[in-house]
Amino acid sequence: MINTTQRLNPNNISAAAALLRGGDLVAFPTETVYGLGADARNDRAVAGIFAAKSRPQFNPLIVHVADLAAAEEIAELPTDARALAAAFWPGPLTLILPTRNDSGLSDLVTAGLGTVGVRVPFNPIAKQLLKEFGGPVAAPSANPSGKISPTSADHVLDGLSGKIAAVVDGGPCDVGLESTIIGFDNGPVLLRAGGLPSELIAAALGMEVRKNTDDAISAPGQLKSHYAPKAKLRLNAEAPQADEVWLGFGSHTFDVQSLNLSQSGDLTEAATNLFAHMHALDKVAAKIAVGPIPSTGLGLAINDRLERAAS
Ligand code: TXA
Ligand code: MG
Repeated sequence: MINTTQRLNPNNISAAAALLRGGDLVAFPTETVYGLGADARNDRAVAGIFAAKSRPQFNPLIVHVADLAAAEEIAELPTDARALAAAFWPGPLTLILPTRNDSGLSDLVTAGLGTVGVRVPFNPIAKQLLKEFGGPVAAPSANPSGKISPTSADHVLDGLSGKIAAVVDGGPCDVGLESTIIGFDNGPVLLRAGGLPSELIAAALGMEVRKNTDDAISAPGQLKSHYAPKAKLRLNAEAPQADEVWLGFGSHTFDVQSLNLSQSGDLTEAATNLFAHMHALDKVAAKIAVGPIPSTGLGLAINDRLERAAS
């Protein structure tokens, strides 16, 4: 049992790598959200992730590696996957790939699916940590299961302080939304909309990316109620009611407490702000009205997260 969670300076990556090596849990920044990392080959360490997050055991974890060569040590990359890796790694893209027999991964990571979610993050602190640690790091978002994903070290500590060894404080996350998850089943399938718009994936492959309709291969973590704030959310609102605070997109002037995802209507800026604004409003209000957000590009992932948060 851990009592105090250290806040590590990003120029002390070797301390974070040493903790991972010892089987401890370390939260670290990625460009999407903060991840809760553990040595993906260590059963006890991986089990610790589920315990710290109170996460349902059937839910497999994304494995983070430093580069393509490290990805090839744990998974097989079919042609389409290779093309996407070349185009978008490092970056906010997770590929669901067949696990190699000699991957060495803990069975808890893959939940016995025969596939593994692999990601090469872009964030320089994450990269440095993966390089110094020198092995695969299992990392779900660093929040208690079902709660809003963390985009700062403070968010991580709000949810997991006392339950993990350390958090590397790398400041706010650039993208602010989890990675886009792509699986392969006779071509690419979008399993989770995320920080990389699926239009870009389709363009890189020169083929359509199907939206997942088959529950059997859907990302098992995609439970309907997810990203749940304590406050009640009302989506696609035209204006706030008297007892609501306002989460807006684009210019507006309402006479209630409010935060704006993007004054100028920029979806990238809105994605970056989404979880931080939800965290902030959740602390001050019981009811949040959310203005409409277009469902193109990153808007698809933003609306997905808002719908889960509202259900
Ligand atoms: O941006 C991100 O992806 C962040 C950062 C930390 O990398 N991670 C993240 O992890 O969002 P998590 O655990 O919160 O979400 C991972 C999702 C879950 O829905 C899980 O079920 C799905 O990926 N997943 C993982 N491995 C899978 C597999 N082999 N097959 C299908 N879905 C998988
Ligand atoms: Mg999560």
